[in-house]
Amino acid sequence: MPRAQVPVTGRSWAPGSLWPMCGIIGVTGSDDPLRFVLDGLALLEYRGYDSAGVVLVATAGEAEGLSGTGALWRRRSAVRGESIPALERFAGTDLVPGARTGIGHTRWATHGAPTEGNAHPHLDCTGRVAVVHNGIIENHRHLAAKLVAAGHVLRSETDTEVVAHLVEAEVTAGASLLEAVQRCVSEIRGDFGLVLASADEPEVLVATRQTSPLIVGRTSSLGLVASDISALLETTRELYALGDGEIAELRPGVIRVVDRAGTRVEPTRLRVGWGVRAAQREGFEDFMSKEIHEQPRALTDTILGRIHADGTTELEELGIKEIELAAISRVIVIACGSSYHAGLTGRVAIEAWAKLACTVEIASEFRYRNPIIEPGTLVLAISQSGETVDTFHALREAKRRGALTVVLTNVVDSLMTREADGVLYTRAGPEIGVASTKCHTAQILLLQVFALHLASLRRSLSTDEIAELAALVVAVPARVGDVVARFDEYRHTAEQLAFVDDVFFLGRGGGYAVALEGALKLKELAYVRAEGYPAGEMKHGPISLIDRDAVVVVVANRGSLSAKLLANVEEVRARGATVVALCDTDDPEVAGLADIVLEVPHTDETVAAAVLVVPLQVLAYGVARARGNDVDRPRNLAKVVTVE
Ligand code: M6R
Repeated sequence: MPRAQVPVTGRSWAPGSLWPMCGIIGVTGSDDPLRFVLDGLALLEYRGYDSAGVVLVATAGEAEGLSGTGALWRRRSAVRGESIPALERFAGTDLVPGARTGIGHTRWATHGAPTEGNAHPHLDCTGRVAVVHNGIIENHRHLAAKLVAAGHVLRSETDTEVVAHLVEAEVTAGASLLEAVQRCVSEIRGDFGLVLASADEPEVLVATRQTSPLIVGRTSSLGLVASDISALLETTRELYALGDGEIAELRPGVIRVVDRAGTRVEPTRLRVGWGVRAAQREGFEDFMSKEIHEQPRALTDTILGRIHADGTTELEELGIKEIELAAISRVIVIACGSSYHAGLTGRVAIEAWAKLACTVEIASEFRYRNPIIEPGTLVLAISQSGETVDTFHALREAKRRGALTVVLTNVVDSLMTREADGVLYTRAGPEIGVASTKCHTAQILLLQVFALHLASLRRSLSTDEIAELAALVVAVPARVGDVVARFDEYRHTAEQLAFVDDVFFLGRGGGYAVALEGALKLKELAYVRAEGYPAGEMKHGPISLIDRDAVVVVVANRGSLSAKLLANVEEVRARGATVVALCDTDDPEVAGLADIVLEVPHTDETVAAAVLVVPLQVLAYGVARARGNDVDRPRNLAKVVTVE
């Protein structure tokens, strides 16, 4: 599979440094650039919602009467989660007649409080250059000191504003916006996606990036740029990934890309599979419930053509020679959050089926631990977004140390796909809710397909064994459909737990990762302290926390460790805990031990994780909704976690 390879730069990444995850949108050539920018911001809001702002570029004559900012019309708002609606009041008002160019930004605050003064876009001293930024300018203090000494007045606490002033100096000296950015960009250290507009060139936008992604696009009459493909899908499929260090000049209908030396380069065209409807709620109360319901489809699509009930697997798309894959001797999975939990489930299959040593590492720890990468090590990064900074840098580190690398992601052509030797795509469609649901279960299933693929290449199982397991994997989407059909029932059960404060999630074997995921979902959505624990480990300490106020959710599907798990359930019951059992339909033994039951149709334990996790998604959803929380945008979180 052809992919643009980004060279490993080996640049250092200081612990504690930040890579903000804001949303950027820009258009030139539009009859209503404000409408375009606001619609784009609404789609990008999941990347950050501390503040939002827009700039429209008025032509000189039309600039008259604009207060304060000369020919750039700027409005910003910093009402957390409500900034885009606040900007909507300007839509349709024709305050900037004739403007055809606009840029917008939705912010996840890092440098500087989430105030209106720190909201993007930022302007230079003259109010004639505007910039929006995703990333961090690491040397902003040094640049600010230089600029202030040269007479510039900086008005915000952000690292971003320096860019507007650097460009101002060049533009004032007669450079075009493109030339100015070209000259300034080498002074900037850090990771950034930048889009600039200038009052002097009302139909031009300039975009450049270093590590933080930017997508540019065009139609016959528009030039477009965004930090994320989802904001542009409705307008065009002619989209390109701007490369590291490249600079794009956008005019209506025209994209011109150069490198920092000014040499023309051909940007990489993106393959776009998703329709825009996939990024809309389609009648569901929120994206999370929509995405929970989409799981049977997402899983079916993910395994389509890749595994067959007779046991054959087809993963040529991976782009790694079978001979190389067959020769690996060890797998290290790196991931964060729900992707890490999917990795834990994948490990069970990789060990049991492919008979390969497999460890699963929290990506943020992996790269700082001086990890040993022996010859024959495959490092498998799992990331829904393909952008998570911890996983991205851990992947780079693994590659630098000589590992064969594969990324398993949901986002086509995302950052990590350009870094890894091979790529496996889940085909879950865009996941907008901050809590991962359909992408998590799709990751699990694709990992199981991958484990079977390795097993057949390594001949670690017989053909019959592989066929038997493949039949189980192929049946998972339908089993998930059966549990999704019980959404209302699980939600109703969750409402009984709406006011719990402390919850343990216990599991054993394959149920352990499910317990971890259930706890994470409850924490992030319902803001309830929740801990996922291996059931057998409780007696080594945590059981002292169990009393009549404790709620314990046990992943108690029928399986080889059932008897041992039930003994652990008895232990917590004996201490007065309320027991919520996730168990097979018609399992009177477990039901008899539980105060509350979440029933699931029986699924063979080897592939049960993707099925079992669904009721726990709904449990967290139901508790969060009952508490009045915003499930799509839980507090303090963002969908793409690009913060170390
Ligand atoms: O995009 P990634 O899969 O790399 O994201 C990793 C985690 O940030 C993510 O799974 C996070 O834990 C989710 N909010 C969980 O629902």
